[in-house]
Amino acid sequence: MTKKRYDPVPLIRAAITASAGAKALYSRFQVGAALLCADGSVVTGFNIESSSYGLTICAERVAMFRALSEGKESFTAIAIVAGSRNWCPPCGACRQIIWEFCGDISVILANLKGDRVVYSMAELLPRPFDGGFLG
Ligand code: THU
Repeated sequence: MTKKRYDPVPLIRAAITASAGAKALYSRFQVGAALLCADGSVVTGFNIESSSYGLTICAERVAMFRALSEGKESFTAIAIVAGSRNWCPPCGACRQIIWEFCGDISVILANLKGDRVVYSMAELLPRPFDGGFLG
């Protein structure tokens, strides 16, 4: 399948803007994600932490669940930005969810200056589990 072309710059900017709103009272680690939908729209998310730490949800899953609940079904890329000096790769739980609902999309890891590296989901989650195993 040929991959859809897209401009990563506005997607990274949307993730940077989203990260500024993160509810990260406990870790102070603010993350933003911007998901590019196949219809060209962008849905963003930031991490939301709870005083009951385990209830915390990552920026990527907030963006993903927002997009799904808005009826988006097909996706091209996701940009992830954190305030840290290093890239912020998606956690294992987010990789599973992104894979299940987006398949092998591009994953752009960027910093606040806009420097970026790009991976594919297949690189980030080799030999994935998905609904195909459930029979
Ligand atoms: N976090 C994300 O939002 N995305 C990631 O890919 C890694 C971690 C959040 C969860 C928590 O609020 C904070 O970063 C520290 O783990």
